[in-house]
Amino acid sequence: MNRNLALEFVRVTEAAALSAGRWIGRGDKNAADQAAVTAMRESFNSMDFDGLVVIGEGEMDEAPMLYIGEKVGMGKGGHRIDIACDPLEGTSITAKGGSEAIACIAAAEEGGFLHAPDMYMNKIAVGPSAKGAIDITKSPTWNLQEIAKASKKHVEDLCVIILDRDRHKSIIQEVRGTGARIRLIGDGDVSAAIATAIDDSGVDVLFGSGGAPEGVIAAAALRCLGGDMQATLVFENETEWTRAQKMGIKSKDQIYGLNDLAKGNVMFIATGVTNGSFLRGVRYFGGGAKTHSVVMRSQTGTVREIEAKHAFDSKPRYGW
Ligand code: FBP
Repeated sequence: MNRNLALEFVRVTEAAALSAGRWIGRGDKNAADQAAVTAMRESFNSMDFDGLVVIGEGEMDEAPMLYIGEKVGMGKGGHRIDIACDPLEGTSITAKGGSEAIACIAAAEEGGFLHAPDMYMNKIAVGPSAKGAIDITKSPTWNLQEIAKASKKHVEDLCVIILDRDRHKSIIQEVRGTGARIRLIGDGDVSAAIATAIDDSGVDVLFGSGGAPEGVIAAAALRCLGGDMQATLVFENETEWTRAQKMGIKSKDQIYGLNDLAKGNVMFIATGVTNGSFLRGVRYFGGGAKTHSVVMRSQTGTVREIEAKHAFDSKPRYGW
């Protein structure tokens, strides 16, 4: 995969973040999402590459833009790049003006991503110090003990990040029983999974279920950061199982490791929409706005941060 693509993709996440940024705190999560989707799609289509959305905003009949199977980019017949995108990860966060909303893309060579249906996925994610120490078939207690050993910490030193949902009550109770600390979040488990692999984020492990598409995107970032992840799909009814089978899922009980979710050379690119643990949100100044982005590649492990100043005189659509 051409390494320059990663830098080109920053324009795409910047455009999505700048568009969604106009909706921060305005109470309309759908408008925020739509703004990000439109901007991301237009930016993709101004790039000379041959892209296929494999994880997107939904299936063609449900979502009009950036749907699974949509071709993006101007390239014709070139080296195909699979795209997993979340134009606005944290739609409610953005609508409420909360923290950790990002615009993000992961890219892989053809076939690199699990074609994850839009359903729940159980996830455990950790940073490099606990790579190889997790097992999703075992209890949270077992995992915390192993993560603590691998990271040379006490279980009580660990901080677990969990989506604040009723379905996580028993995990939360068990984690509290071990003495580990918990950060409950309202939304945004892509940022949460990435935080486990960021120095000084104060977060060691993500437990719980969230969106399966978000799981694949987080796995791409963790590949680049040297972290680890395991996941299983959560089938809530037969319709979900039928849809999953159509997308190539063979077994209900399959355990997905990091490389099953995102294999080969992958890239992850994100721009902050609101302030978060590893990215600052869109900040406005007279006549423009600043964005903060991160670009990562698994091949080299290089992590680049990019601060950009955008002048609205030259980019009128973001200055409205
Ligand atoms: P959106 O940005 O699409 O609203 O997703 C936010 C999110 O919190 C994800 O980060 C997470 O994977 C998923 O929703 C969890 O789903 P649910 O809100 O149904 O628990």
